[in-house]
Amino acid sequence: MGKIKRIGVLTSGGDSPGMNAAIRAVVRATIYNGLEAYGIYGGYQGLIEGDIKELKKSDVSNIIQRGGTILKSARSAEFRTLEGRAKAAQMLAEYKIDALVVIGGDGSFTGARLLIQEHDIPVVGVPGTIDNDLFGTDWTIGYDTAVNTAIDAVDKIKDTASAHSRLFFVEVMGRDAGFIALRTAIATGAEAVLVPEVETNFKDLEAFLEKDYNPKESSAIVIVAEGNDKSGGAYSIAEKVAKEHPEYDIRVSVLGHMQRGGSPSQADRVLASQLGAAAVEALLDDQKSIMLGIANKSIVHVPFNKTIKHTKDLNPEFLELVKVLST
Ligand code: F6P
Repeated sequence: MGKIKRIGVLTSGGDSPGMNAAIRAVVRATIYNGLEAYGIYGGYQGLIEGDIKELKKSDVSNIIQRGGTILKSARSAEFRTLEGRAKAAQMLAEYKIDALVVIGGDGSFTGARLLIQEHDIPVVGVPGTIDNDLFGTDWTIGYDTAVNTAIDAVDKIKDTASAHSRLFFVEVMGRDAGFIALRTAIATGAEAVLVPEVETNFKDLEAFLEKDYNPKESSAIVIVAEGNDKSGGAYSIAEKVAKEHPEYDIRVSVLGHMQRGGSPSQADRVLASQLGAAAVEALLDDQKSIMLGIANKSIVHVPFNKTIKHTKDLNPEFLELVKVLST
């Protein structure tokens, strides 16, 4: 057996559906390889405070279908300090944990990279965020489920929008990224989408609405990503449009954290299972400072450095598709 005997696993940052499936995969793959798995509760803060417990096979039974994370999640200010990371490293040594799997987003990987640099602890990452905004992977765990949740909500909103000939601005999550918004817009046949990556052109939006929306006989849906550039969220956009068009029957619906919860889709469960097991394999292959990802249906190793430094672009063809299909 190699030098790794104990693997720790934690979830960090915003939770996402499928994190439990990933935890299960890490624990089961660790045990399959004859090693011990340790769960770290409450993200990096829990690591600093020593909230750590061995996880056996049965501890991760019956969780693959559950949203949230049994390990809980947190954003730790202390871990952002040199002293905080030193305490974390000391805690890992106390528990004889030789390597770590971090399930989270780019903030979590930034912290992991510093821990590796300062204390030479092997860490690999599994991408868990509904935002799908991690460079190097086509899909992040939780994105598919979140989009399905948003689609379900928008479908319902469309019923009432149509019944009253209303214009709805529906705000979906995505503080810095429009992936949820764009996919939801295509899948619901929305009239327009506003994302943080593209500056909102109000003239275009209004011209489009004037042509396409008639408060007497038609309805329209505009999907707005919460971080939609300087224009603000759905409420502020709706306000600006209402000022120009007091005759419009406008409503706003903010979907919020419902998008982060719920049972993961099959796609997220399978992705989480694949990447969780691959993370353990990568550690046993002496890898560190990488994120596991999926690109063109194959598992890939993406250096933390790369995924932290680069921004994943929205598919421009998808942006165009929303326009083409709503004319
Ligand atoms: O998980 C990412 C995300 O959903 C963003 O889209 C959103 O802005 C943020 O989390 C909100 O997180 P919280 O409410 O936990 O601060």
